[in-house]
Amino acid sequence: MKRRNIILDCDPGHDDAFALLLCCYSEKLNLLAVTTSAGNQTIEKTTKNANNLLHFFNKENIPLAKGSSSPLKRKILTCPEIHGESGLDGFNFPLYEEKYDSKEGYQLIIDTVKNNKDVTVITTGPMTNLALALLHAPEIKNNIKEIVLMGGSTKEGNMTKEAEFNILVDPEAADICFTSGVPLRMLGLNVTRQILVTDEVIAKASKIETRGADLFVKLMKVFNDNQRKFFGLSAGPLHDPATIISLIDEEVFTFIDMQVKIDTSDTEKVGKTICLKDKPYNTKVAVNVNIERYWENIFEHLRRCK
Ligand code: BDR
Ligand code: CA
Repeated sequence: MKRRNIILDCDPGHDDAFALLLCCYSEKLNLLAVTTSAGNQTIEKTTKNANNLLHFFNKENIPLAKGSSSPLKRKILTCPEIHGESGLDGFNFPLYEEKYDSKEGYQLIIDTVKNNKDVTVITTGPMTNLALALLHAPEIKNNIKEIVLMGGSTKEGNMTKEAEFNILVDPEAADICFTSGVPLRMLGLNVTRQILVTDEVIAKASKIETRGADLFVKLMKVFNDNQRKFFGLSAGPLHDPATIISLIDEEVFTFIDMQVKIDTSDTEKVGKTICLKDKPYNTKVAVNVNIERYWENIFEHLRRCK
């Protein structure tokens, strides 16, 4: 089977951690590089978390580069209310060696895309690094097969009435990506907020006796408590792995072609993903999810992380 070449740009982050786990353990994917964004926590913290996770998954040889410490034009927003002071509260990693690529995140994206064929770039945090890569080297567009993102919503937001966190943090970067001409696939809150880490999900994961399942159960307990306190949700939504699951199992999500625009105004609508049907489209937007099958994919990959 030919593996799909991918780069993961992420801000771990409890849900990002399991997007990365899927990238590391799926036989359908070839993880070429990991870059970090500032979002759930500061760039220092998300980068340290990504390094810990790569070591934990025995993939410390995959190039990891620190991304931009702030959005293109706005002040950085972080989310300790959900992800804690470390950005990954709930699990204590052993003391691993800190191993980073000397390039900046956007440069690692550029070089990796140039040195490989048909690369899919997945973003599970603010889109700053990918936007910088597209600004510095527009020619890489031809080598990017697809941009797959967790972000936005066809309905309401989570940080404001209109906006989802990843897009709100850096709307200008999202706008650059959505107007780049590269095919996009968007997994937004309208589907990811249906994927809840219920007590039943945690109970099932607890029965899987692997290191991956232990990581999941410990992190999700903290994530769930915080989601309940902060958003008043019944359980935490496991947003970011949706990107990867859409690549490894075509049966989980249904997509509709839409024209998606980003609101970059300085109004209360900033960060909104305006999704229009029946217009020339730029994005495949997820509109439906098979929740049971989503969890089967998660559990299967937790089993592989022995
Ligand atoms: C997104 O924001 C972050 O807090 C999560 O990791 C996810 O990428 C959900 O709005
Ligand atoms: Ca994220």
